[in-house]
Amino acid sequence: MHIPVMKKEVLEYLDPKPSQHFIDCTIGLSGHANAILEKTAPEGKLLGIEWDREVFEKIRPSERMILENDSYANLKKIVEKHNFKNVSGILFDLGISSWDLEGSGRGFSFLRKEPLDMRFSQNSELTAHEIVNYWNEKEIAEILKEYGEERFSGRIARKIVESRPIRDTLELAETVKRSFPKSYKFREQHVAKRTFQSLRIAVNDELNNLKKGLEQAGEILDKNGRLVVISFHSLEDRIVKNFFKNNFRVLTKKPVTSSEEELKENRRAKSAKLRVGIKL
Ligand SMILES: C[S@@+](CC[C@H](N)C(=O)[O-])C[C@H]1O[C@@H](n2cnc3c(N)ncnc32)[C@H](O)[C@@H]1O
Repeated sequence: MHIPVMKKEVLEYLDPKPSQHFIDCTIGLSGHANAILEKTAPEGKLLGIEWDREVFEKIRPSERMILENDSYANLKKIVEKHNFKNVSGILFDLGISSWDLEGSGRGFSFLRKEPLDMRFSQNSELTAHEIVNYWNEKEIAEILKEYGEERFSGRIARKIVESRPIRDTLELAETVKRSFPKSYKFREQHVAKRTFQSLRIAVNDELNNLKKGLEQAGEILDKNGRLVVISFHSLEDRIVKNFFKNNFRVLTKKPVTSSEEELKENRRAKSAKLRVGIKL
């Protein structure tokens, strides 16, 4: 089951009122979306976007929901298609859901033996298998450095190339572990975490999609409309922070993080950062 992150804070900042219109760019299993819709009764509407076909098919639509199986990188086109106007607020809840990690079977977790896929959309061509088994050492090192801020990017890339073929997630996690220096003191964070993160970002072109989605959200929002973004690592957070510098009044000087109470119930909330801007 997926527990929505910072649901209370999302509602507080989006501040939905009866009959308003909202967009959830990453609707997932509708945790946030249903909470927003409830506050906009009786006539408010929510446009929900979900890239993953399997997740999309699990959504239980409500009468006041409009759903689209697409990427938020196409936000403007989707909004035009549905003639969705007077948008009071837009939400992006980035990253992966508990279902992606535990139920999708697509290799998002370094703790389960699964094929190296990592695509959100089965329509995308690039898979993690392709990168790990066919890209050259330099290209792999670059994505580990850029998208994972991985200190040992060069060593890991070399070991990956030497260890081919790498057939599944556990073989990859093991390869990463073997590339760390012997003297390295293993910490709480799993050594393969950054490698898996960078592969996922590369496979789904996540940072470019985010930039495109934010730009279009900025155009679509009504004046004084609210944009709420929850990010899960520093690369995303930096993009969001910079985006808000133009044309937005920022309500969160420092990003909002989850309460102690929420952290006890939801480990996924640990790295979440929420930022909010009001369109000028
Ligand atoms: C953290 S989950 C959202 C959970 C949701 N807020 C809830 O409360 O149930 C993020 C979702 O965004 C989807 N996603 C990832 N990239 C996307 C994109 N470019 N466009 C639309 N959806 C995307 C993922 O498939 C995933 O279901």
